[in-house]
Amino acid sequence: MGKSVFITGAAAGIGRATARRFAELGYTVGGYDLDEAGLATLATEITALGGTPVTGHLDVTDYAELSQRITEFTAATGGRLDLLINNAGILRSGRFPDIDITAQQRMIDINCKGVTNGCHAAYPALRDTPGATVINLCSASAIYGQPELAVYSASKFFVRGLTEALDLEWGADDIRVIAMWPLYVQTAMTDGVHTGTTASLGVNLTAEDVVAAIVAAAEPGPLQRLLHVVHFPVGRQTALMAGAVRFSPAWLTRLVNKRLARL
Ligand SMILES: NC(=O)c1ccc[n+]([C@@H]2O[C@H](COP(=O)([O-])OP(=O)(O)OC[C@H]3O[C@@H](n4cnc5c(N)ncnc54)[C@H](O)[C@@H]3O)[C@@H](O)[C@H]2O)c1
Repeated sequence: MGKSVFITGAAAGIGRATARRFAELGYTVGGYDLDEAGLATLATEITALGGTPVTGHLDVTDYAELSQRITEFTAATGGRLDLLINNAGILRSGRFPDIDITAQQRMIDINCKGVTNGCHAAYPALRDTPGATVINLCSASAIYGQPELAVYSASKFFVRGLTEALDLEWGADDIRVIAMWPLYVQTAMTDGVHTGTTASLGVNLTAEDVVAAIVAAAEPGPLQRLLHVVHFPVGRQTALMAGAVRFSPAWLTRLVNKRLARL
């Protein structure tokens, strides 16, 4: 059997573009989402690209359903799971007290518990597939806590920490765990989002920019392998910010973030 990839949140945006690209690359693509109408059109597109789609309903907050989808997918791939892409995520922007608590908790459920569920449910299949990789969608908002995105940003700090910990823990199982760090991307997620940082930094990346970075990170070059790169900034703005923060004193990092947030 060829390589296989299981993608959460595959019906739209970055997940959908990633599913299409891996189908072009010859992977067996498992695309899962709450949005079954979106998955139906994705399956048609993957078939048109010459791929064999496997799709199904998934709420990443439901561990039992996620385990079931992993079991079904690996049954279709001969037990093989080369790539798990924990992509499903949601964002609500605004001042912290203005976002109702249900919406805040939903962000934590999907962005944090969803990634935890994905890693936990997929672990046996990843362990049994030589050279397997987990790719978690982190964000530039995990560089420094972001006003008007407080819980979203905090949820991506969770993703960052989980990625680093599992990458160390699962090294013995020959499983890489890495994180992608885009700044704002032109998808439904950023439609209508107006914060200080969208105004100062813009929404410049496309889903295809993130896909290109994901594909490159999935198959790292010799130097990246040697250095064991875990975090992959996407785009020049994030690379610049992630690099600068390593050398910047805490007071300066805070001040720059305050200015970028236009506070
Ligand atoms: N768009 C950005 O600016 C940006 C920047 C950095 C990181 N990211 C991250 O990239 C990932 C994808 O974002 P996007 O921009 O493509 O978003 P999007 O809103 O375009 O697509 C997200 C997809 O996830 C699905 N989804 C939502 N909740 C789900 C759930 N409980 N279970 C299963 N599927 C669910 C949605 O139905 C949708 O198809 C997210 O984790 C996001 O945080 C996005």
